[in-house]
Amino acid sequence: MKVALYRKYRPTTFDGIIGQDVIVTTLTNQVKQNAVSHAYLFTGSRGTGKTSCAKIFARAVNCKSPINGSPCGKCSACLALATSTNLDVLEIDAASNNGVDNIRELRESVGYLPTAGKYKVYIIDEVHMLSGSAFNALLKTLEEPPAHVVFILCTTEAHKLPATILSRCMRLDFNLVPTDELFGLVKKIFALEGAEADDSAIMHIAKLGEGSVRDTLSVADRCLAVTHNLNYETALKITGAGGSEETAGLMEAVVRGDAGNIISRVENLSYAGRSVTQISHELTVFARDLMLVLTSTTPPNVSDDMLARLKSIASQTSLGFLITLVRALGSAEAELRYSTSPRIVLESALLSLCVPTAVPTPTPAPQTVKKQTAPTPQSAPDYSGAFTRAEPKPEPALTRDGNAVAVLGLIKNQLRKVNTSLLYNEYCKLPDENVRISGNKFIVFATSASYLTFVQPDNYKQVQSILDQSEKKYTLTVERLSNTGKSVLSQIMEALGGGIDIIIK
Ligand SMILES: Nc1ncnc2c1ncn2[C@@H]1O[C@H](COP(=O)(O)OP(=O)(O)O)[C@@H](O)[C@H]1O
Ligand SMILES: [Mg+2]
Ligand SMILES: [Zn+2]
Repeated sequence: MKVALYRKYRPTTFDGIIGQDVIVTTLTNQVKQNAVSHAYLFTGSRGTGKTSCAKIFARAVNCKSPINGSPCGKCSACLALATSTNLDVLEIDAASNNGVDNIRELRESVGYLPTAGKYKVYIIDEVHMLSGSAFNALLKTLEEPPAHVVFILCTTEAHKLPATILSRCMRLDFNLVPTDELFGLVKKIFALEGAEADDSAIMHIAKLGEGSVRDTLSVADRCLAVTHNLNYETALKITGAGGSEETAGLMEAVVRGDAGNIISRVENLSYAGRSVTQISHELTVFARDLMLVLTSTTPPNVSDDMLARLKSIASQTSLGFLITLVRALGSAEAELRYSTSPRIVLESALLSLCVPTAVPTPTPAPQTVKKQTAPTPQSAPDYSGAFTRAEPKPEPALTRDGNAVAVLGLIKNQLRKVNTSLLYNEYCKLPDENVRISGNKFIVFATSASYLTFVQPDNYKQVQSILDQSEKKYTLTVERLSNTGKSVLSQIMEALGGGIDIIIK
């Protein structure tokens, strides 16, 4: 059976580790100076070299004649540790052995002296998965480790570790690997595999890895499985990234707010074998490309056809909408991991963006006083620009600025004639309380999600030109409401500082 690239090219010395210079220097110096700590914490994103460095270090501290801080690979200790039956370097995957029993066994075996070299090395992978009682058991060992024992705890989520563990370890943070280093590695591996590839194709692979060597190598694997003579266009086709036809179609449906189309396209994509997470990720990348196009930047790695497609979709949407979309996808992605029906999570995130808003036409000023729901605090996703608003609750203190509401009605009327886009929608969604007139200013208080739509230059100009036709020729001013969790009204009160007429009933 074919061996995956990331296994085949797992580095065996520190020279083979890319993008982690500080860590490699630290570890090799400790080997050279014979100054080994008893507990290390290797933390950082997946596929950046934590396990690889732990294995190399375990052999280096035992090697009889290390070369430049790396294991020589030839001495009796190196040869003994290369066998999987050795008892001196033990790897424990906490993700599958999270029980306290495994740690108890570990504590017992810690007492035995190493056989091949100086140290017994325990590599505990995904250590954050240990249960509470297992942590306690581990802690006892970490408190008084025998001189011949070295612990290397590896985790992608150091923040989940108890402070008592953290404080006993020497912590090394693994960086995401820079794209040019990934490029160099992929280029070298293609050569070793006897495959030809354009630099642009290799660069494309390196970028898709997003800093993870493991992910980069699996993309390279997918390409090599198809051809040993790779050019850029083929790489795009194989990886389906940089805007595949299907993703473009789905994005078009989202931008148009075509609910039926969204559902059937997500369904087709997932029948075609795409995972929901992948679909969501591709949409996010696509949204980013659209944002680049909207800010007059050409996205990297797109074919001419795709660029034309991006431009046409971009013309139907706005930055504000895309930002809302990316946020919605981000929080959907977090939810996907725990969901038993991920497709529904993605579909509802997408549909929530195109539900027609509850306030399509300007209505006469209602007599009761309304309160807007408080803006969501920073940690929660801000859907304020995306969803139909929650039912307004009665609010005792403040009413609307009648003049401003009249002007808002004028804006909505005019926009409806010329424009059925997001801008019109945003003005329709704007609660009456969020507009005020102060002097010759017409002030719009916008949530963060909507703010960018209002201030986008063309949008701003369009509304200003409507105001220019009004009797008082107001100047449009857009204020951004912060996400502090304070109610919108109290923020507006503060911002206005009582400088204008707020009618208190
Ligand atoms: N910094 C790196 N330099 C070279 N190869 C790496 C590096 N990081 C990861 N790899 C490659 O990716 C594979 C998985 O890496 P691993 O060390 O298990 O990552 P982690 O433990 O951080 O998730 C390795 O077998 C190796 O081929
Ligand atoms: Mg690992
Ligand atoms: Zn050796």
